[in-house]
Amino acid sequence: MTLSRRDVIRIAGGAALALPFASACQEDSGPGSRADPAADETGGALLRSSARLPAPFGVPLPVPPVLQPVSTSGGVDRYQITQRVAKVELLPGLQTEIWGYEGRLPGPTIVSRSGRGTVVRHRNELPVPVAVHLHGGVTPPEHDGYPTDLITPAGGWPANGGHNGHTGQTSDLVKEYTYPLEQQAATLWYHDHRMDFTGPQVYRGLAGFHLVHDDNEDSLPLPKGDRDIPLMIFDRSFAEDGSFPYPSLDPSLRDRPGVTTEFMGGVLGDVILVNGAPWPRLEVSNTRYRFRLLNASNARRYRLALDPPPPSGDPFIQIGSDVGLLGSPLGQSAIEISPAQRYDVVVDFSGYPVNTQVVLRNEIGEGGAAQVMRFDVVRRATDDTRVPDRLSDFEELSRSSAARTRDLKFVRRGSDGMWTVNGQPFDPNRDDFDPRLNSTEVWRIKSDAFRHPVHMHLAHFQVLSRDKGDQPWDAGWKDTVELRRGETVELIARFTGYAGRYVFHCHNLEHEDMAMMANMRVV
Ligand code: C2O
Ligand code: CU
Ligand code: CU
Repeated sequence: MTLSRRDVIRIAGGAALALPFASACQEDSGPGSRADPAADETGGALLRSSARLPAPFGVPLPVPPVLQPVSTSGGVDRYQITQRVAKVELLPGLQTEIWGYEGRLPGPTIVSRSGRGTVVRHRNELPVPVAVHLHGGVTPPEHDGYPTDLITPAGGWPANGGHNGHTGQTSDLVKEYTYPLEQQAATLWYHDHRMDFTGPQVYRGLAGFHLVHDDNEDSLPLPKGDRDIPLMIFDRSFAEDGSFPYPSLDPSLRDRPGVTTEFMGGVLGDVILVNGAPWPRLEVSNTRYRFRLLNASNARRYRLALDPPPPSGDPFIQIGSDVGLLGSPLGQSAIEISPAQRYDVVVDFSGYPVNTQVVLRNEIGEGGAAQVMRFDVVRRATDDTRVPDRLSDFEELSRSSAARTRDLKFVRRGSDGMWTVNGQPFDPNRDDFDPRLNSTEVWRIKSDAFRHPVHMHLAHFQVLSRDKGDQPWDAGWKDTVELRRGETVELIARFTGYAGRYVFHCHNLEHEDMAMMANMRVV
């Protein structure tokens, strides 16, 4: 029997109504629990590990390898990635089956030059369809990883990846994605985007960094080389045998999308991994380091702080946001990072005596989720880097430049428990918004009783206002903004690059899969 997406969500949603989110009886029993404070705000639940978990800070921080191009001729860098099933050791002594780009978690890092074309040929050796999205990329629509533009697996797949009546551009086994990357230096990432199944597919491992450099960035005296480190932070849970117990209704990810009722608001894990290692440790010199922070979690948000804080100065000097460097640096005592966001920060370890252990803490996590990794200041070194007052030609967009204002609501629908944009679940055949190419618009977005990290494809934006008070880390060009509960956020977006159809959605991946997504047709 093949259920349609609608049937499944109706069933799951009906069950959700019968067992409302605030089910206190789940507190300490069953696989899911709301004891983690993060759960309340996403509407999600904590999935507890049954595997034996390692003590924190026991393993060194891995850094994902940089992928080598297969050719660099004709002004274009060409890469190949095979998506495959692999067994990897994430927890010491246990094997975990993952789905990885090149069989790795995280996938290999792609490093590109702004304005130099990058072509990535993806081969799908997984048992299900995939779609690859370059998050933060200004990419033509047919290469953006639209949720129904699928690469089907060997042996084929029912028409349109099982989505009745939804026409996507299906490719058999292989697809070449072309990225012009006419955009400034930034920390982008690539991840799976298959309609209805993004949550479980990213959870199994389909995520990697894609860094873009440019001449401006090169000219700055910031830390470089092995003192410029990307940190992909995500939470997971582990079953006793080391496998991921993601609560899919259909663990084969073939027919039925969705997760069991208690996790409809988000799947939270009790192990925090950085670049695929649980609570790792990095030995550093007493110098400045640049860290490119990415929250690649399905639903968990973090409030990152250093413990102990440096004896003087701000723990984090923020130099960039999601899609580029700030105009000038901003000192931050802590940074809140919601799913899909990136913060580019410099940490100066020179204030710490050698032999200090500095924990990167998550001030809004409980138990294992309260800590992320540790920096051990183990040696002296010379440092000729600094953070200059001017980082880029940042242009602040003014409200008066906006061609129009739109009002949107990110809300859970009462009738069936689905996550919606303006009360409507995602329909790939319906265009919801029609911004004009090269125009600027204000989008006034309101949330319900939950937090929603809202992400726009193609267009980059700035945060104009929040009715619950400013957040200091909102500065700069962004592609994802977090709405707090019951908050209205105004963002101002510039629709440059390409005309065509793109999505706009909540990046809590369980909310996204359960239909909190809309179409923008840029005209
Ligand atoms: Cu990071 Cu539409 O995704
Ligand atoms: Cu995106
Ligand atoms: Cu959401």
